[in-house]
Amino acid sequence: MTTETTIHTSALKPFENKVAVITGASSGIGLATALRFAAEGAIIVGIDLNNSDAWQQIVALSPQSIFHQLDVRDFAAQQKAVDSTVEQFGRIDTLMTAAGVGEAGPLNMLDIELWQRVIDINLNGTANSIKAVLDTMIAQRSGSIITVASIEGIVGTEGGSAYNASKGGVVLLTKNVAIDYGRIGIRCNAICPGFIDTPMLHSVLFAEGMDDFRNSIIHQSKMGRLGKPEEIAGAAFFLASDDASYMTGQNLVIDGGYTAGNAHGIVEMMGLV
Ligand SMILES: NC(=O)c1ccc[n+]([C@@H]2O[C@H](COP(=O)([O-])OP(=O)(O)OC[C@H]3O[C@@H](n4cnc5c(N)ncnc54)[C@H](O)[C@@H]3O)[C@@H](O)[C@H]2O)c1
Repeated sequence: MTTETTIHTSALKPFENKVAVITGASSGIGLATALRFAAEGAIIVGIDLNNSDAWQQIVALSPQSIFHQLDVRDFAAQQKAVDSTVEQFGRIDTLMTAAGVGEAGPLNMLDIELWQRVIDINLNGTANSIKAVLDTMIAQRSGSIITVASIEGIVGTEGGSAYNASKGGVVLLTKNVAIDYGRIGIRCNAICPGFIDTPMLHSVLFAEGMDDFRNSIIHQSKMGRLGKPEEIAGAAFFLASDDASYMTGQNLVIDGGYTAGNAHGIVEMMGLV
């Protein structure tokens, strides 16, 4: 048995010369990850339905970065963006699929069109993004794919229906990609965030009449607060890095302890917090 420990002493940034395609790059978790990866030296290929002023911050950190305004439901458009990336930079090291929507409701109250929209964006859109980079990653025999699922893809929640079904699909798609392509050097892991304070969640939790709901979520998040998008970006950095070189097919849950178990106020009753 041999043990190898590599200590990196180079002045290069950790992701220097790496190319990262990030969907949902204009807001929330995707934007925080794009900023983190750009700060670490990566070239960012951002994909989003909406353009955002924040993109200028990414270009300031990583001038070669490029933005493609497109819908992840459109496979041909994503393939075109990926092909032009490969033409320009010659490779794709990382794909992170953060584009998504958070709509749902109890099934009997949900329009079938809304069900289809959520599955189409969250699940089919993720499959489109992965399929678009696979030929490139197979040819280069390397790549780290990071999907953004949710704790709601692992456990059910009230009114979750379409959203939870879409994220459960992403969790299993992630495992299958890991199984199918692991032997040719491609890793695929899911990040399963809990409740992260992004525009998507903020608009729901801080709407009028949502105080009790918000407080209940914060209480069950055992850190006593919502998560920050940068805390998901940190996990994405790990999964994209060589430090995660033997990790594939996993769900990395980052939820402040929300799914660790129930809290019923005992520690408050005993004066601990
Ligand atoms: N915020 C949370 O608490 C939380 C928890 C678990 C999982 N997630 C997941 O994280 C991902 C990012 O969410 P967020 O909270 O940062 O939300 P967000 O709304 O801030 O960002 C989502 C981004 O996806 C883009 N997008 C939506 N539909 C698209 C489409 N069809 N094509 C291209 N881009 C599209 C939006 O324009 C937006 O920029 C989503 O998949 C979401 O389900 C979020």
